[in-house]
Amino acid sequence: MLGLLFRYTPISLAVCIGLLAPLLYASPVGIHEYRQDDGWPFAPLVTSGRDIKNTKNETVVYAGANWPGHGEVMIPDGLAYQSIESIVSKIKSVGINAIRLTYAIQMIDEIYANGGEDITVQTSFIQALGQANGTARYNEFVEQNPTFDETTTRLQVFDAVAEECAKQEIYINLDNHMSQGAWCCNTGDGNSWFGDTYFNVENWTRGLAYMADHGKSWRALTSMSLRNELRTPASNPTLQQQSYHWQDWYKYVRQGADAVHGANPGVLVVLSGLDFDTWLTPVVQGTALTPGSGTFSRDDFEGYGSDKLVLELHNYANSASNCDSLKNDLYRKGYQALHPEDPEAADVFPVLLTEFGFDMGTGWRTVYATCLADLLSTEKAGWFIWVLAGSYYIRSGRQDYEETWGLLNHDWSDWRSSDYVEENLKPLIGNTASP
Ligand SMILES: *[C@@H]1O[C@H](CO)[C@@H](O)[C@H](O)[C@H]1NC(C)=O
Ligand SMILES: *[C@@H]1O[C@H](CO)[C@@H](O)[C@H](O)[C@H]1NC(C)=O
Ligand SMILES: *[C@@H]1O[C@H](CO)[C@@H](O)[C@H](O)[C@H]1NC(C)=O
Repeated sequence: MLGLLFRYTPISLAVCIGLLAPLLYASPVGIHEYRQDDGWPFAPLVTSGRDIKNTKNETVVYAGANWPGHGEVMIPDGLAYQSIESIVSKIKSVGINAIRLTYAIQMIDEIYANGGEDITVQTSFIQALGQANGTARYNEFVEQNPTFDETTTRLQVFDAVAEECAKQEIYINLDNHMSQGAWCCNTGDGNSWFGDTYFNVENWTRGLAYMADHGKSWRALTSMSLRNELRTPASNPTLQQQSYHWQDWYKYVRQGADAVHGANPGVLVVLSGLDFDTWLTPVVQGTALTPGSGTFSRDDFEGYGSDKLVLELHNYANSASNCDSLKNDLYRKGYQALHPEDPEAADVFPVLLTEFGFDMGTGWRTVYATCLADLLSTEKAGWFIWVLAGSYYIRSGRQDYEETWGLLNHDWSDWRSSDYVEENLKPLIGNTASP
């Protein structure tokens, strides 16, 4: 029912590029499995110092939006209101070139528990929203997206999003957001840290590897992050006491990174920090990963440490009143990694701001919003705004939840604030999105 993914190789274009290839691609960087007729996204992407590069040695800068797919229904949100094509077209129309697509490990756990078969979207809607509302939402979903039917599985919806992104040349940064399919995050939700109530490490690495392998068929997939917003396991004080520190962070992050890279060597691996991913200082400065004395080393990521690792940070200092202090704070927390000229930066990495956001009413007319746009524009650094969603199928127990921070309105048909899009978003995209 869903078309298979074909690589686009129009014959005449391929011949033409074939003739020009020696000129165009004379010195590709960090070559893995690149073929000259591959076309967009000119993958695999690699890192080179503070930049992400494609196989043409062009610098790739993500200018993107978060598209949640980790809620209870465990498919990307919005699809009971709009088609995948219309949502992707909407973001493409303003120059957004990437999505951070989130998923829950529970989806993969259920596939394993079900003998390798994913459950259908119809079942998933009903499990998440109840018989009446689940059936109603499922019917709307099929009406909006008529290539789907009662046999469609959750993963097939992800596949269709990936296929549309490939068609419209939107990079996908695939993010494991939660173990359970549910709204994220608080410290007491049992999903906070390796070994927390619902955060089983083997399930997690298995899920990462599963999605990395599955994602090989997604032409648009260029990077994968390991886990959203690691945080103190407040409902598990013993674990917090014994394990919530940089030393264990390193132990588990290496397992996650190996799982992704082992299953799919083509993708960049995105590492996120402590305390809701707000800082990565010891990684950048090469200081002790406490309470131990070991330090971060690219050699510990065998075969890919030199050119596949990217850092990500989140920032929600929405009440900031001074842009310089916000910038200084972000610099110390990780943006220093973009500055090889700074002797304190022991290592240099690309840094992505994978979450920041604000209320679309007045929240974007703030020091915080303009300051971040300024920082990202100056640094030419990648970003993903929270959030594309105008509403969620369900969030924190409330169905059809209105998202006032959403780029889109409630039914995902238009921008929530065209003033924001014109005055802030478009300039930010213009200053950053690349190539
Ligand atoms: C890639 O581009 C950079 C400039 O962005 C240049 O310094 C470097 O030499 C190029 N590398 C190759 C292999 O062409
Ligand atoms: C079902 O949807 C209606 C609105 O369409 C809502 O009022 C009701 O709370 C929903 N049921 C549940 C169990 O959330
Ligand atoms: C891990 O996955 C299995 C299914 O393979 C599931 O039964 C179990 O509950 C999962 N563990 C956690 C902590 O979610």
